Amino acid sequence: MADSTDGARKFRTSLLEDATGDGHNPTANPTMGEIIARRFARRAMLKGSLAVSAIAATVGPAALLAAEEAKAAGTSAFVFPEVEAGVDAEHHVAEGYDAQVLLRWGDPLFADAPEFDPANQSAEAQRRQFGYNNDYVGFIPMPDAEDPSAHGLLVVNHEYTNEHLMFPGIVTISGGEIEVAPADQKRVDIEMAAHGGTIAEIRKVDGKWQLVRDGQYNRRITADTPMLISGPAAGHDRMKTSADPEGRNVLGTLNNCAGGVTPWGTYVMAEENFHGYFGGELPAGHPEAANYERMGVPEGTYEWFKFYDRFDVSKEPNEPNRFGWVIEVDPFDPASTPKKRTALGRVKHEGAESIVAKGGQVVFYLGDDERFDYIYKFVTSGTYDPADRAANMDLLDEGTLYVARFDADGSMNWMPLVHGEGPLTAENGFASQADVLIETRRAADLLGATKMDRPEDVQPDGRTGKVYAMLTNNTKRTDEQVDAANPRADNAFGHIIEIAEADGDFAATTGSWEVLLKCGDPSVAEVGASFSTATTENGWFGMPDNCAVDSAGRLWVTTDGNSPDKTGRTDGVWAVDTEGDARATSKLFYRVPVGAEMCGPHFTPDDQTMFVAVQHPADGGDDWEEFGRPSYYEDLSTRWPDFDPAMPVRPSVVVITKQGGGKIAV
Ligand code: FEO
Ligand code: CA
Ligand code: CA
Repeated sequence: MADSTDGARKFRTSLLEDATGDGHNPTANPTMGEIIARRFARRAMLKGSLAVSAIAATVGPAALLAAEEAKAAGTSAFVFPEVEAGVDAEHHVAEGYDAQVLLRWGDPLFADAPEFDPANQSAEAQRRQFGYNNDYVGFIPMPDAEDPSAHGLLVVNHEYTNEHLMFPGIVTISGGEIEVAPADQKRVDIEMAAHGGTIAEIRKVDGKWQLVRDGQYNRRITADTPMLISGPAAGHDRMKTSADPEGRNVLGTLNNCAGGVTPWGTYVMAEENFHGYFGGELPAGHPEAANYERMGVPEGTYEWFKFYDRFDVSKEPNEPNRFGWVIEVDPFDPASTPKKRTALGRVKHEGAESIVAKGGQVVFYLGDDERFDYIYKFVTSGTYDPADRAANMDLLDEGTLYVARFDADGSMNWMPLVHGEGPLTAENGFASQADVLIETRRAADLLGATKMDRPEDVQPDGRTGKVYAMLTNNTKRTDEQVDAANPRADNAFGHIIEIAEADGDFAATTGSWEVLLKCGDPSVAEVGASFSTATTENGWFGMPDNCAVDSAGRLWVTTDGNSPDKTGRTDGVWAVDTEGDARATSKLFYRVPVGAEMCGPHFTPDDQTMFVAVQHPADGGDDWEEFGRPSYYEDLSTRWPDFDPAMPVRPSVVVITKQGGGKIAV
């Protein structure tokens, strides 16, 4: 989800407003965003060939020569012709590749599901169709597949909804800004049905991926799907509500951002900005007041609380404690009940990528996406058994949650969040491990964890023992708050940290780290970006968000927040070298239509298919000179992917393959 205060996007993206930040620019100097905005505004005035030369001029002859030399020397691990960065209504992939739209919002997932009819939407239809705003994409091969990279289950999160893009007739423009009509019951029910996740069987037929519409495992998970609460916080008094006096059963999941797939083939969904779904006022003096303040609850962005008491904290004050968790779903049993695994803590979880450590424990890396929040990992107590899937199914209920402290000397510590250890005692309000997990952030505060610039996806590389952490941005960091791991004040473009776990053991409690890349335009000195000089004008990016490591150990980064006024380009997929002379060289492989964010990416085991998710296309356009006004259902900055006047813009999953077959970027 983008972090923007632009009028056109304010309606929904205010979800990310920091509950703890002070929001003040510390000095009277122009912010980095203002410097860049001026730069791109200037560019936008230069038309035609003038614009081309202005852009070309930002990469000096030395850098261009270096790029040519790097290519000639073959030092980059990636081989593909780079896409030209820019902004338009289409998506673009590197020459020699196909980008095929596989699943769009509203596509029927079952043999008996209705076709998408945007003028006559219903919650009932939406529960049988692909949901909105696809974010995490995972692929789990079918156990009996002849080719495990050609037949499997696609698991997709549906993070949130954009009402102004989804529903006809609800927007008015006032003072150049979008105003959305108040919700009614029907609209709220559709929104709830468009959240959650999708499990869909897909297969490659004659080189082209397609949905198996009658696939026996196809499933929709929504904001109403019954779920079990498991692990140390299950059954705790703070988890009980009037609908669930046992504190073990909860309806639905909210704001699933990134996620993961476990080694035993389960689908992991991570609840991120759940605070926006709660409204009302907590009763005076309520014991959860400090907990909720730390989490920004209630924010009331969505209007669900007006129709469902469980989202109103004045009526159900404990319900927010039942969100902010990591959920595990068995995709091979469509009747199974998803489990909220409380042992992995309660924060605004970006994702939950996992890997098997040397000792057989499974390690999950977890980013908490808020300014000045933390990076965590969870190490299971039990060990993974590759020969017995059933034996792995409750591994996530027991283990140790750690939070990261990055020290200035390049060392780091993973500090355990264990009740009774250090400050995590009754004197500080933690009577049990359940309390530690329900208030994970407060526990991590007391341990002195390092306050990061919005931790997003954190991805282990099993080949090297390294881990890549995306820090997307933090314009609220002041000069006084700069530290070694967050080295820029007013960090508008984010950075990437590379962690090396001690002895290459993912279960280690110590390690070392360095900044792999400081993002942003390398030709603007004030930005302080650190791309290699082999990176071209197209290759740099801002706001790293999600990432993947392919089976060759190469890093692919997707972004959230590049736009005409911030970086003069849309979001996309960039290939980032991590080794040798080419380290910190980046190349643009795919880019999204205007207004969209790039989620995914995920590879099939053979590296021949890359799945990506185009989230919230057309959510923006007012800063794009060819559109230049607010974008909403009746007047969209792009009508991708159908370009059919009868169809709205549709968030979609895209599959990228090499023409003629073969591994990507080889
Ligand atoms: Fe949903 Fe952290 O982005
Ligand atoms: Ca994200
Ligand atoms: Ca990832």
